[in-house]
Amino acid sequence: MLSYFVKALEISKALGSDGKSVVIKGWTYRKRSSGGKTFVIVRDRTGTIQCIVDKSKVKENEWNEIEKAYLESSIILKGKVRKDERAPGGAEIDVEELRVVHNGEQFPITEYQSPEFLLDVRHLWLRSQKMIKAMEMRSYMFKYARKFLDGKGFYEITPPLLTKAGGETGANLFEVDYFGTKAFLTESSQLYAEAMIFALEKVYSFAPSYRAEKSRTTKHLTEYWHLEPEMAYFDNKRSMKLQEQLVSSIANNVVKNNEDELKFFGVEKDALAKIKPPFEKITYEKAIAILNEKGVINPETKQKKERLEWGADFGVEEERVLTEDKDKPIFVYNWPVEIKAFYMPLNKDGKTVACADMLAPKGHGEIIGGSERIWKLDQLTEKMNALGLNIDNYKWYVDLRKYGSVPHAGFGLGIERVIKWMLNLDHIRDAIPFPRLINRIEP
Ligand code: 4AD
Ligand code: MG
Repeated sequence: MLSYFVKALEISKALGSDGKSVVIKGWTYRKRSSGGKTFVIVRDRTGTIQCIVDKSKVKENEWNEIEKAYLESSIILKGKVRKDERAPGGAEIDVEELRVVHNGEQFPITEYQSPEFLLDVRHLWLRSQKMIKAMEMRSYMFKYARKFLDGKGFYEITPPLLTKAGGETGANLFEVDYFGTKAFLTESSQLYAEAMIFALEKVYSFAPSYRAEKSRTTKHLTEYWHLEPEMAYFDNKRSMKLQEQLVSSIANNVVKNNEDELKFFGVEKDALAKIKPPFEKITYEKAIAILNEKGVINPETKQKKERLEWGADFGVEEERVLTEDKDKPIFVYNWPVEIKAFYMPLNKDGKTVACADMLAPKGHGEIIGGSERIWKLDQLTEKMNALGLNIDNYKWYVDLRKYGSVPHAGFGLGIERVIKWMLNLDHIRDAIPFPRLINRIEP
């Protein structure tokens, strides 16, 4: 009998092993029987291959096992690979020996299931070809992002996720009972990354951020993975340069290493290959002018919106109008002070702050938000007081401005937004294995 621990070949490699005897380990993906033969398509991480089990060529108990096997049974097969132009991957296996490792129960996912049901059985749907490919790409893109920053001399840091105060607007915090006192799940690790630049100078954290936002859109998660670099002696301009290099590097690595996966998702390789610095940079003021010239549709009334005034924030529709005809991401920089976070320093004009959002092309929306940070004590406390923030909650953060403070900047990239954009996914939920959405915290 085949041992559970027998050495097996990846299916992608088996497909190219014409004439060789191989062992593969996988799960039954499709199955049909006809005329004393069972045709099983077996999948593993790397692909699928059709295996032909001939009743007259295997032992009786093996034949019975394969006959009984439900879809998604775990299975080990041994046989000879035979090239066949008509077979899906160009080759098949004539099975000599097989072992059903675990048959179990009837798999609940059949064809044509509703998206909601597939989310209910997400723990099982992760085995689908689409999710396998998406999760593989997620893993690669985490690596590409880290590789780029590591190559630039950054240190990866690990911030706390339980915090005493918000790091952004504070309006969308999940509250936690921390032994009788109020705590929150972090909405950004930025403030902790800032503390660490005084030790390591260039750092990044790659951790979850939590947003109790009641946004039911295709690009909002309540728990997402946030890549947050923070750099000593960087201004907004230098930070934007780093951002465009980072995003280009992720795109170029995908183009170089993941051609098959891009094909699977129907993404034009050439479109991603165009992602190279520099990216177009427009001020918020210019963006408002463009939006007013082109006109923005109100998604609720389907009517053209009234003129946008200075101080308006951008929603899905504004982001789409600004990027629908772009091949590369764009930056919108110098936003009005009123609509940005407390830690952003005022520009000389007295009304905008030194910050930038990066918007992905073709309406995929904001993928990065970043800025310079107020690094002088009096300016920070003045701003926090003006906004009515409780400085007691930010004591340690304010403290950083008392001892050898330096100009610095940083940014936050939502990796699921980048995955959604680069793989052209319909919804951000497919960029993360177990999505947390406003109406879903299970499985
Ligand atoms: O623009 P945000 O809120 O900026 C910050 O949190 C800064 N503290 C980052 C920093 O400077 N270190 O969020 C940054 C990015 C957004 O551009 C977006 O890509 C992503 O985080 N993001 C979300 N992704 C998925 N679901 C959500 N609900 C998201 N909210 C923000
Ligand atoms: Mg933002």
